Amino acid sequence: MEKRYISAARTDAVTEREAENREVSYRAALEGIVLLKNDGALPVKPGKIALYGAGATRTVKGGTGSGEVNERSVISIKEGLELAGYEIVSRRWLDDYEKEYESKYSDWLHMRGVKESLIDNMANPFQPPAGRFVIETDADEADCDTAIYVVARQAGEGSDKKLERGEFNLTGLERSSIERIAKSFKNSVLVINSGSYMDIGDLDEKVSAVIYYCQQGMEGGHAFADILSGAVSPSGKLTDSWARCYEDVPNGENYSYLSGDTSKEFYNEGIFVGYRYFDTFNVAPRYPFGFGLSYTEFETVFRGIEYRSGEFAAALTVKNTGSVSGREVAQVYAYLPEGTLVKEKKRLVGFAKTKTLNPGEEQTLNISFTPDYLASYCESRAEKLLEAGKYIIAAGNSSASAIPAAVIELDETVAVYKLKNICTPQKSIKEIMPPEGKNATVPSEGLQTLSLKAEDIKTVKADYYTLKPAFDAKVEKMLDEMSVRDMTEMCVGAGLGGMTETDGIYAPGTVGRTTMRFASKGVPNVNLSDGPAGLRLLKCSALTKNGKQKFKDGNFMMSSMVRLPKAIQKLLSAKDGDEVLYQFTTSFPVGTALAQSWNTELMEEVGRAISREMTEYGITYWLAPAMNIHRNPLCGRNFEYLSEDPVLTGKIAAGLCRGVESISGNYAVIKHFACNNVEDNRTHSDSILTERTLREIYLRGFEIAVREAQPGGVMTSYNLLNGTYTPDSRDLCTAVLRNEWGFTGLVMTDWFSTAPGQGNAAGAIVAGNDLMMPGQGTDKLSILIGVMRGDVSRSELRICAGRVLQAVLNAKALEITDR
Ligand code: BGC
Repeated sequence: MEKRYISAARTDAVTEREAENREVSYRAALEGIVLLKNDGALPVKPGKIALYGAGATRTVKGGTGSGEVNERSVISIKEGLELAGYEIVSRRWLDDYEKEYESKYSDWLHMRGVKESLIDNMANPFQPPAGRFVIETDADEADCDTAIYVVARQAGEGSDKKLERGEFNLTGLERSSIERIAKSFKNSVLVINSGSYMDIGDLDEKVSAVIYYCQQGMEGGHAFADILSGAVSPSGKLTDSWARCYEDVPNGENYSYLSGDTSKEFYNEGIFVGYRYFDTFNVAPRYPFGFGLSYTEFETVFRGIEYRSGEFAAALTVKNTGSVSGREVAQVYAYLPEGTLVKEKKRLVGFAKTKTLNPGEEQTLNISFTPDYLASYCESRAEKLLEAGKYIIAAGNSSASAIPAAVIELDETVAVYKLKNICTPQKSIKEIMPPEGKNATVPSEGLQTLSLKAEDIKTVKADYYTLKPAFDAKVEKMLDEMSVRDMTEMCVGAGLGGMTETDGIYAPGTVGRTTMRFASKGVPNVNLSDGPAGLRLLKCSALTKNGKQKFKDGNFMMSSMVRLPKAIQKLLSAKDGDEVLYQFTTSFPVGTALAQSWNTELMEEVGRAISREMTEYGITYWLAPAMNIHRNPLCGRNFEYLSEDPVLTGKIAAGLCRGVESISGNYAVIKHFACNNVEDNRTHSDSILTERTLREIYLRGFEIAVREAQPGGVMTSYNLLNGTYTPDSRDLCTAVLRNEWGFTGLVMTDWFSTAPGQGNAAGAIVAGNDLMMPGQGTDKLSILIGVMRGDVSRSELRICAGRVLQAVLNAKALEITDR
């Protein structure tokens, strides 16, 4: 391709778009902070405040690895507080902390001789030190009423967190420092700055307030200050149940490295993940799913439920009965009847967030859901069934507070989907069983009863035989003219594009691109960039006179690259005189924090903001949202993922996808499909689970996102699923995704997941995994040999190539002209 499209800006001035997106990030952070305890200490107006803990000045804005974002600047909690008018009076402790941080960071940096590979570095992120003990003298010197202690944790791709002090547990130093502030100050606030929950022991009983800050992106410090001061009332809700201690996590003892064998991951807890376990097995969590406090009070009145046009519609009125304004999340759960299938006690079926309600103001919310939200999967019949009996609909503002409000009574068992068995386990799985009669105590007398006949519910039979990809005439014609070799090239992406290749549509810092081979025929490459906390590109980079991409001033693609050997860094870095390019993207709260807003409209807004940046910098595929289920709190990538619950996961992801794809030709890529729930040994770990658990918990979020938002892309995962690498699973990539759910977009691999010893590209084509990323010579060879041997048919290859071609030709980035 002769013409070079460079999308990067040439100046580092703040654009209108950057300022607007920063504001969206701020609002997302505001709604993602969760207040867990408040004995009246909060809000606290600007004044003197003592601030301690690792996350005070070095607030962790997001996790590490591909999910990082290289934004212009980040507001820490301390900066946010100061800018809001608080006077920080714990200077001495904070100064000491800075010294310790610098020295520990420098040690970590120089340990690179031990861990040299990029992957190893990525798997060993810098863990902020805790700082020194907070002692009595610190408290005396502070001379104020309120102290805040911010515990911080970092985690990232490639390794799971350890069940150790300093990771999932607090260290002795953190504990005693928090106890000290609880004793010495009138008001003590514990803030948790970690992408996933941790064990805080009994400290929540000792301090006056607990805030789950999570990791809130570039504007988190501002949002925190506004929540603390009461300028805005907190409205975030947990997307996970917090176990009291690790021993309470179902099947926790067998998770990842704890089982002693990371090559097999048995999902023995079955469908009993998160609150489904706590509720059903009568184990009290520390904080329940859906929980979060406000500075005001709300009263929720259930108005009734109807069934029309194949949908249940519940109406609820939420009234602000307190004295300040705020927002509430109305959550609707369904208690499920006992039947042939063993079920969880109850599950979330829908939710909605109010607008900001002033004191005395009310709003009626309509929450709808289709019958499949009540269904359970029966493996022997391969059907999603609604068993006859009573479904008790409950409403409230957390899974624990939901109050039974109506009954749906079904006369006979009915199938909502007639499917086929998929991903059959190769090993036997011993799932845990709940106690008998778990729903006996749910009262239903006197509630509105909606009687439903089985015949009122539509049964859909999946069609696994007629799959007709709809390509344009132009695509069909090009496919007709393509050789097997050409089609193979189309299905194999190009390297870490933004790092090296500067021809075609080029944006520094992308992680991949499609082939350039057909550029002269009007099919240029398109670019792919990570998420999920924003768009990961290079903030500042350089282009040499002979067209080589270079790093500039230590601005790397990911933080772990600072540990690359100096000689390599030098080789990859610009010299004076090279042309400098800038791309300022926005870092948003991490996935979990976004989901804690429980606000699907806000998610659309975040998606739209990201999409504007994609258009500006010529990015076609955003490799997000990431939506694996929070199965265990030690998973290294929980921060990127959304929730323990598939309905919340699916709806939050659908909102983000709708936002991204509101600009036609920009695509969201939901990932990692499916069951990438451990990070240790992730490329050789076999997720072993029953089909029912797979369908009800691990595929369900993806199903909702696909049915609601039809994203342009799906990324398969690194792991095996019941013995098959996911890119090679036709059950996943075709039967479930396309035949059952009607997905029409592109399926791509996770990075290098068809490398030798893992999945294989020929198998992926047969399965319907269209694009190998970032693409290797071995992938091409595998496909070509596959065709030669007759393992891959020409028509299978044609369909995959057609999907890539069609997506490229529809890409928004093709409209970009040389800048
Ligand atoms: C991650 C993906 C990511 C890809 C590209 C992989 O290591 O698992 O989530 O999109 O890298 O950066």
